[in-house]
Amino acid sequence: MPVYNQPVKLPVQIQSFDEYQEVYAHSVSKPENFWAEQADTFYWRKRWDKTLEWNFTDPDVKWFQGGKLNITENCLDRHLAERGDQAAIVFEPNEPGDPVITLSYRELHAEVCKTANALHELGIGKGDRVCFYMPMVPELAISVLACARIGAIHSVVFAGFSAQALADRVNDADCKMIICSDYNKRGAKNIPVKQVVDEAMAIGCSTIETVLVHKNTGGDITWDPSYDLWYHEQVDHQSSECEAEAMDAEDVLFILYTSGSTGKPKGIVHTCGGYMLYTAFSFLNVFQYQPGDVYWCTADIGWITGHSYILYGPLLCGATSMMFEGVPTYPDAGRFWQICEKHKVNQFYTAPTAIRALMAKGDEHVEKYDLSDLKVIGSVGEPINEEAWEWYKEKVGRNVVPIVDTWWQTETGGMMISGLGNYSPQKATFAGYPLPGIQPCLVGKESIKENKGNPAEGLLCVKFPWPSMLRTTWGDHERCKNTYFSTVPGMYFTGDGARRDENGMYRIVGRVDDVINVSGHRMGTAEVENAIDEHSRVVESAVVGYPHDIKGQGIYAYVIMGPGSHDLDLIKQEIIAVVRKEIGPIAKPDKIQFVDALPKTRSGKIMRRILRKVAANELENLGDTSTLLNPEAVESIIAGRDI
Ligand code: PRX
Repeated sequence: MPVYNQPVKLPVQIQSFDEYQEVYAHSVSKPENFWAEQADTFYWRKRWDKTLEWNFTDPDVKWFQGGKLNITENCLDRHLAERGDQAAIVFEPNEPGDPVITLSYRELHAEVCKTANALHELGIGKGDRVCFYMPMVPELAISVLACARIGAIHSVVFAGFSAQALADRVNDADCKMIICSDYNKRGAKNIPVKQVVDEAMAIGCSTIETVLVHKNTGGDITWDPSYDLWYHEQVDHQSSECEAEAMDAEDVLFILYTSGSTGKPKGIVHTCGGYMLYTAFSFLNVFQYQPGDVYWCTADIGWITGHSYILYGPLLCGATSMMFEGVPTYPDAGRFWQICEKHKVNQFYTAPTAIRALMAKGDEHVEKYDLSDLKVIGSVGEPINEEAWEWYKEKVGRNVVPIVDTWWQTETGGMMISGLGNYSPQKATFAGYPLPGIQPCLVGKESIKENKGNPAEGLLCVKFPWPSMLRTTWGDHERCKNTYFSTVPGMYFTGDGARRDENGMYRIVGRVDDVINVSGHRMGTAEVENAIDEHSRVVESAVVGYPHDIKGQGIYAYVIMGPGSHDLDLIKQEIIAVVRKEIGPIAKPDKIQFVDALPKTRSGKIMRRILRKVAANELENLGDTSTLLNPEAVESIIAGRDI
């Protein structure tokens, strides 16, 4: 058996624009051959029988059927011979003076095995769901990989969500275990994480057998001996060897919840084989990672970016991947750049919202650091505006480092449209060209036909499967079909609108559905409305996004109150509290306007287009209001708007 002694092979790494064009042409003319060649560079316990089977009607997509693998063998075991002592994860703590923790590939392998053994002992096996509610600490990375090692399905919930949101996610997937920390150190704050888990348990998480608690700060917590166990007491004495479970390529690797245009977040399902291949392939090509480089993605592992590009992609490629516990502005707005200098970071990946926030704090915070090790800087999560792009290029990239603006989604598993390091043409605010194997197209809104040629504009769709695409939404395949595969028959619909320029480069315009993007976090307007409506005196609400200097979009809520007199300032506070309780602080409205009525069509639908214009203070062209049931509502909304 182990086969890991063979030299580690990696997918093709494109190194010129000509090569990109050649590889791209091959990847779309013979997709199965192309992906099979790339997949052959990994370690499979058993090679697959059939590369691809698909239809976008049911939908049903299967890559590498019959193949057996374990992603952690590819992330860890196969690197041991060549780079066992190289840093796999470098953890930079919240407090600048606290010790950095470095885990070599050998150490990470041992820790993952120990935790995997502990999970086994606690009754977790293949297919069981384990929920995570943790800060950015090494134990999060270790125990997520430990799940993958034994074939358990991880469902990481961002530790800023509320107890209710956590309970909803635990219950949707019938998780057996929650792994959490006692506290989360973020800037000057010490956030009680375990307390939120206690509250979720009190709300009701009947399938949870164990809450495994990682001691992060050692602060006081309450303890329920019927299910609470200390992580270290279960893990420390375990053996550092653990046979990896052989998974089918199409077995579920993880679930990750994300918001859509309907009320309830959906559990996006990713499977083992295709996700492994595509995260590695895209990481290697977009960031142009070279052996020995230090790569840093500032995302949280609670989001897809952290899954694919802190953990899996980099580790599959034998990279050194940094994890940062803190926030960009603590102890001051130079923290990111101080970390880049300190660790000689070569590839840096962050979100436009962070760039805008730091830009607003003044150039002196970035100018004083040596950023000469940077080779590629990346952006993800929302459209990057021109000003932020130029600042990033000039101040961080010092006008020599390429920006990769990476467009993708929780559902796509990996980066879809992006520059490849320095090898693609650059154009501010344009994500650029599709990665090899990715076949985007723009579809006319009215005609539902592909808008061919350059330039073009329309709904951004993808017409051919790629290895890391979502397979379903957990427990509700119909929802997956309706959300992604029915708007444009025969295609995957992203929910975004985009433009293609005369050279074929793509620019993402933004969501065309009822999803807003607040600081790079996806929020469904219906989800926020449902939360607001929980307030006992609220009759109805409508939520829209509006342009926000730092967050990209802010949340604007129009609220109708029940009869009687109200202390509106107090009610505003209560509404914010209700949203925090139902979803979490990331969803709290920035502006709340009390209204008597919402503009509605004759069929009773809220006309959000008008609400969006009023929230953006774009009153010149409100569009056609003649179909409204109550045009007078518009005037009073304009008069009372919050600007
Ligand atoms: O609207 C697009 C926007 O973020 C959405 C996906 O959000 P999420 O699933 O949370 O994943 C974020 C991280 C991959 C997309 O539908 N988006 C993401 N990246 C970009 C972007 N919009 C413009 N440019 C991007 N680079």
